[in-house]
Amino acid sequence: MAYETLIVESRDGVATVTVNRPEKLNALSDRVMEELDAVFAALGADASVRGVILTGAGEKAFVAGADIGELATQSPVEGQERSFRGQRVLDRIERLGKPVVAAVGGFALGGGCELALACDLRIASERAKLGQPEILLGIIPGGGGTQRLARLIGPAKAKDMILTGRQVGAEEALRIGLVDEVVAPDALHDRAYALAAELAQGAVVAQGLAKRAIDRGLQGSLAAGIDLEHELFAQVFATEDARIGVASFLEHGPGHARFVGR
Ligand code: COA
Repeated sequence: MAYETLIVESRDGVATVTVNRPEKLNALSDRVMEELDAVFAALGADASVRGVILTGAGEKAFVAGADIGELATQSPVEGQERSFRGQRVLDRIERLGKPVVAAVGGFALGGGCELALACDLRIASERAKLGQPEILLGIIPGGGGTQRLARLIGPAKAKDMILTGRQVGAEEALRIGLVDEVVAPDALHDRAYALAAELAQGAVVAQGLAKRAIDRGLQGSLAAGIDLEHELFAQVFATEDARIGVASFLEHGPGHARFVGR
């Protein structure tokens, strides 16, 4: 499928999705959201893809948020519809049954920060700036920001960011757990690719089940999360990779399994 606002490339089991509106700092227009929805649906169904990188075109921004031009004339009902549509896309990314790495090269603000939060891991360049500046527009995050940010960095730090709207630099983001790694700007894409490629060699079904156990588990009680883990732990033994992994360990020791992704 041809996309107007995204560049999609695939190599050795790793797909890279680049939001490509650099002149608007990759702001999330309705078109970008529709295309992200379509591309993540396609990546979910494509067994040859075992790891995904999400990034933004140009050096200045990952994604500078919702397209403010499209918000200008929005009524409360339209706001609610937009929020539902946005949440559906972010949920789809979070629920993808394979690892998703965000490569954050510059501004990740508002919906851009929320997009990075829906990914599993975040690698940032030293130049990255992350924030939820909605409050400065007199509004609040509407793409899961109040929920995913608080779960990731804790409620007090999430309130600091959301109530002030301030931008957090890469080093602070690393310190508070908002990103997982910080690298020099020109190393960002190679490092993201190396990580995604390493993950893509893994037992992808087990990775998907582990993601589900963690993400869904955090939404409920500890007891419910443990029950879910038991259920998924049983399911993982139905995979070919579980047989391959255990047999390889017994024969060759740790770290030699060649997983097939089933
Ligand atoms: N929606 C639509 N357009 C946006 C945008 C957004 N979220 N963010 C940036 N742009 C556009 C600017 O309007 C400008 O377009 P123009 O050249 O046609 O005027 C272009 O991208 C470059 O941005 P500019 O503001 O000139 O760059 P800057 O370096 O001075 O500032 C930011 C960068 C990120 C600090 C600033 O663009 C900004 O605050 N953006 C909005 C962030 C935000 O509030 N996001 C949450 C939305 S809910």
